[in-house]
Amino acid sequence: MSYQPFHQRRQELLEQLPDKGLALIPAASEVTRSRDTEYPFHQASDFWYLTGFTEPDGLLVLMKGRSEGESLIFTLPKDPAMEVWTGIRLGQEEAVPRLGVDQAFSLTEVDEQLIELIGEASEVWLPLEDLKLYQRYLGWRQGVRSKRKRSATLPDRLVDVAAQLAEMRLIKSADEVDLMRQAAQISADAHCRAMKACRPGMYEYQLQAELEHEFAFQGAAAPAYASIVGAGANACVLHYIANQSQMQSGDLVLIDAGAEYQGYAGDITRTFPVNGQFTPPQKQLYELVLKANQEAIKLTCPGTTLEAIHHAVLRILTQGLLDLGILSGDLEQLIEDGAFKPYFMHGTSHWLGLDVHDVGCYRLHGEARPLKPGMVLTIEPGLYFAPDRDEVDPSWRGIGIRIEDDVLVTPEGCEVFSRGVPKTVAELEALMGDEDAANT
Ligand code: GLY
Ligand code: MN
Ligand code: MN
Repeated sequence: MSYQPFHQRRQELLEQLPDKGLALIPAASEVTRSRDTEYPFHQASDFWYLTGFTEPDGLLVLMKGRSEGESLIFTLPKDPAMEVWTGIRLGQEEAVPRLGVDQAFSLTEVDEQLIELIGEASEVWLPLEDLKLYQRYLGWRQGVRSKRKRSATLPDRLVDVAAQLAEMRLIKSADEVDLMRQAAQISADAHCRAMKACRPGMYEYQLQAELEHEFAFQGAAAPAYASIVGAGANACVLHYIANQSQMQSGDLVLIDAGAEYQGYAGDITRTFPVNGQFTPPQKQLYELVLKANQEAIKLTCPGTTLEAIHHAVLRILTQGLLDLGILSGDLEQLIEDGAFKPYFMHGTSHWLGLDVHDVGCYRLHGEARPLKPGMVLTIEPGLYFAPDRDEVDPSWRGIGIRIEDDVLVTPEGCEVFSRGVPKTVAELEALMGDEDAANT
């Protein structure tokens, strides 16, 4: 993989730093699962964004105007005995050409070097919510005082580098758009595969296995979040991840799953009948959610806001609930009173990127933020009628539906990254009823 995009992002961050401004961006560390096993390692998104480097425990350091080089990385030292167990470490010599940084040091030198750098820094940018790094920073400051005594000058301003990076990450570059398109396409292929494989009597975890086999088979490192496969009333639990129930004919199944590809998340939800055919009440509710999804996508373009899109969704869903006799009263009043909330209790959208709920402020200066080309968001309206919703007709109870797409804002409007997986009733029934497809 070329280091060029990562190098370019470091340059962009350096341009924002004042002269002798110092930025510290830490890698993630391994987390113990039990005894001597660890959870699968996941690199810190900001560190990945600026380095593309997958080893744990590193520290990226940028210093504007430093004559020996502005971009430094601290990485694990080479250790042949450890590498036999845990894999080859890049080491410092290779880090310079492979990561395109100016200098690389062993993590064993980090205290000594940071004391020097902080002693020269005009201000320090670090992730303000990273207490562990902040404590180390305080230690390094003490180190400057001990070493330089009364000649020590210490930076007196801290800036949240995570907030600066969030603004950069919110607008995806052309390279990122390509990767996100691939993450969504792999996710879409996995959804299609699960739909084709689905049969009454199968277990939710078996559909999860179909999805995650497709992710891995296409080179996606892992699911971007725990896959949700909820049949029947399980679909009414928004983050249902147990995936243990047997799926019954006559029920819908909701799948919310996305691949992580080269660090980027897909996040797609589809809801379809376990036996391939919607019942009339399922179809009525499904088409209402689909209408909200399609209208929201039509509204997605530069200049509009997520709040405006969400409001349009609330209007469509509330009108639909009125038409179906689930709500009664005046449309405007019902919207104002939040009468939809028992049945649609989450937002319509979130940013999508390296993190499934990606970084970036939703409001600026107290106002909803206008969409811009390069932003990627989800559109995910839903309706959920839990079995204990005694106020609704029994025919609606136990139905949960969400339809979620991944959408890039373009100069002309938007591009739906997740279009590779069908979502109309006719398309879903055709895909699932296709015997050839079922046997492949
Ligand atoms: N999969 C989590 C979400 O859709 O936000
Ligand atoms: Mn989502
Ligand atoms: Mn989702």
